[in-house]
Amino acid sequence: MSFNTFQANSLMGEITIPGDKSISHRAVILSSIAEGKSYIKGFLESDDCLHTIKIFQALGVEIEKIEPGYYMVEGVGLNGLREASNVLYCGNSGTTARLLAGLLAAQDFYSVLTGDNFLNVRPMDRIIKPLEKMGARIWSREDKYLPLSIKGSPLKGIQYELPVASAQLKSALLLAGLYAQEELKIIEPELSRDHTERMLQGFGVDLVKEGKEITLSKKGEIKLDAQEIEVPGDLSSAAFFIAAALITPDSDIVIRNVGINPTRDGFLRIIQEMGARIEFFNIREKAGEPLADIRVMSSNLKAVSIEGELIPLLIDELPLLAVLAARAEGRTIIRDAAELRVKESDRISATVEGLRKLGVRAEEMPDGMVIEGPARLQGGVEIESYYDHRLVMSFIVAGLISREPFKIKDVEAVNVSFPDFNKILKKLCYR
Ligand code: S3P
Repeated sequence: MSFNTFQANSLMGEITIPGDKSISHRAVILSSIAEGKSYIKGFLESDDCLHTIKIFQALGVEIEKIEPGYYMVEGVGLNGLREASNVLYCGNSGTTARLLAGLLAAQDFYSVLTGDNFLNVRPMDRIIKPLEKMGARIWSREDKYLPLSIKGSPLKGIQYELPVASAQLKSALLLAGLYAQEELKIIEPELSRDHTERMLQGFGVDLVKEGKEITLSKKGEIKLDAQEIEVPGDLSSAAFFIAAALITPDSDIVIRNVGINPTRDGFLRIIQEMGARIEFFNIREKAGEPLADIRVMSSNLKAVSIEGELIPLLIDELPLLAVLAARAEGRTIIRDAAELRVKESDRISATVEGLRKLGVRAEEMPDGMVIEGPARLQGGVEIESYYDHRLVMSFIVAGLISREPFKIKDVEAVNVSFPDFNKILKKLCYR
């Protein structure tokens, strides 16, 4: 489905952001293998997270929707999952596929994981290799792609240095590690989002994190106790409104309930370096995760360099930062971000292609991009989103201030992470 962008003269008002995608997945996964009834509030009802729910239902877990965003999960314990009678469909969700592969590798039954055409060309060898070192039996297309066939087996503990800073890989290993006979030690090249570690600790698992080293101890028996989890709002979703307010003149908005976990907050750090007028208040904690309310005002932005250890902390926000860079004074350089090429789409080439169509001087690099600003964004063109939810939303934000509206293809991809995106954005827009 194609969609015409809409413009705004200013953004004003107050909004609340739906639940965090990464945390919603983890809440269902850990509640399912915990003992007793867990309750999840603020669960993100987007396609990706609903696939995770359906998969656990297929694995024999009772999950009940009490009201919108509020779910009860009747945990079956570490060894209570049952073989599903059909393939497990992950849709577009890399988090579902990778985390489930780790968990299913340790179950005493057979599973097949598959996804949509976009997910089925994303690399899975990064999880297959270390899981095989632990003793997992996994078959895959071309030894690296979904569908995966997994014949669960007893696993052993390993020490493993991750070749990429990936929270999905780390989490797959931690879930497998719950079942391993020996201790599991993981060393990250750089810090990546730590929601799995925080939540495992919240469920009572003896997990120690020292800098970039994580140890899952086998001193006592591992058992997860049911929890009540309140999912904070997703910073990666809030980022679109923050960016929209920064680049739209005369804007002043408040966003409530935004997760500000320090392994996710690279976007907030970079926009402050770019000159963003932003204030944080009501800083508090929910489910072991920090959150805040945020006020953002239109700002004059300047170019920055985005690289190194910061990259994993803002990886999902890079297409949006590229849109901001187009409005910033000077040359923005993004490096060390080759991972962007294996996200929901090749986000380096897709972002540069879209920005260029809008008249921005942007260049691709193997591991990043260079963007010259400030550009007056043009319109009247059609932009490919490659069915990538974050590209759709980044370009809708760009459309707010483009000279003319433009078309974006496959906008229904927003349902992957943020079904109400346009509704909430329109609430803030004044024309
Ligand atoms: C996620 C981890 C990141 C991120 C993705 C969600 C997670 O992927 O890009 O949107 O929930 O663990 P990688 O682990 O591939 O970096």
